[in-house]
Amino acid sequence: MTTHWSAACCLALLGTAALGCSGTDAGSDAGVSANASTAAEPRIEAYRRWSDHIGQGGGPKGAEDLEALARAGYKHVLSVDGAMPDIESAERYGLSYIHVPIGYDGVTRDEAVAIVKAVQGAEGPIYVHCHHGLHRGPAAAAMARIALEGVDTQTAVKDLEASGCKYEGLFRDVNAFVPPTADELARVGDLPEAVVPSGMRDSMTHIDDRWDSVQFVKKLGYKPNPDHPDIDPAHEVGMLENLLRNLADQADAKALGPEFLAMTEASRAAAERLEQDVRAGDPVAAEASFKALKDSCSKCHKKYRD
Ligand code: HEC
Repeated sequence: MTTHWSAACCLALLGTAALGCSGTDAGSDAGVSANASTAAEPRIEAYRRWSDHIGQGGGPKGAEDLEALARAGYKHVLSVDGAMPDIESAERYGLSYIHVPIGYDGVTRDEAVAIVKAVQGAEGPIYVHCHHGLHRGPAAAAMARIALEGVDTQTAVKDLEASGCKYEGLFRDVNAFVPPTADELARVGDLPEAVVPSGMRDSMTHIDDRWDSVQFVKKLGYKPNPDHPDIDPAHEVGMLENLLRNLADQADAKALGPEFLAMTEASRAAAERLEQDVRAGDPVAAEASFKALKDSCSKCHKKYRD
């Protein structure tokens, strides 16, 4: 929850993202084929090319990003994010999708085996993504590299750290990861190209998209911007408030009990205050409400998600 970049901010970040690639060890750089190194690198947040076969980073933000991936030579995409992949656009650029959503709290054995199977089965380079490319995607890529590219655990964990991963469960599971046996891999059935998110996870993927928009309007000083005439700052915050309100109605949210619902309500109330501050044009109050809202996400995740 610490780093969120809206699509528009990505462009400004490109320089930094490229520097971030220095975490790639020299060995795998040397392995990148002439073809891969001459093709344009896709301009996607947290983008990394781990090897000839495996790239990884943030989720494609639209058809342009998918096109850029195809141009860079990718043939397949593996999403470990909760959100539904845009299969149709991907197909238009000759990219096939596999979807294995994983949590921030760790990777189950079944998920890990499915990830390895997906990467192993890819004929041609595969792009692994989560949402921001910092935590779950790097963990999935680490497991695939250990199982399929002879990367040792210590290096994989170091790379996971360099990726910016902050989640204990992901480190734990990469650390303890043992490559699947041929038998385990053979037992994996057809992997889905898209898993429809349901209940709370579905709400969260929408909340997260809206949260990206709220951070974007914050960057614009919560003011209307001539370059983005379609964006109404208070309305963006209002839609987030709405989604947090709906979260409390989900059966799996209710099942977590009163404390969870109280945290949901605290988050919703913070969004409501932020909306009022934005409407009132009060940047000082908005700053405090934004912080309260942001803290309400992390507080709940710490207890119920990570
Ligand atoms: C009251 C608790 C609570 C609040 C408040 C909350 N979340 Fe979540 N969030 C969760 C839980 C629980 C999950 C795990 C859902 C699952 O995978 O079943 C989750 C999952 C997520 C995910 C991962 C979705 C995926 O790909 O699997 C994102 C992203 C996220 N939340 C963003 C946010 C943001 C941004 C906010 C604040 C604006 C927020 N959440 C507020 C409880 C909360």
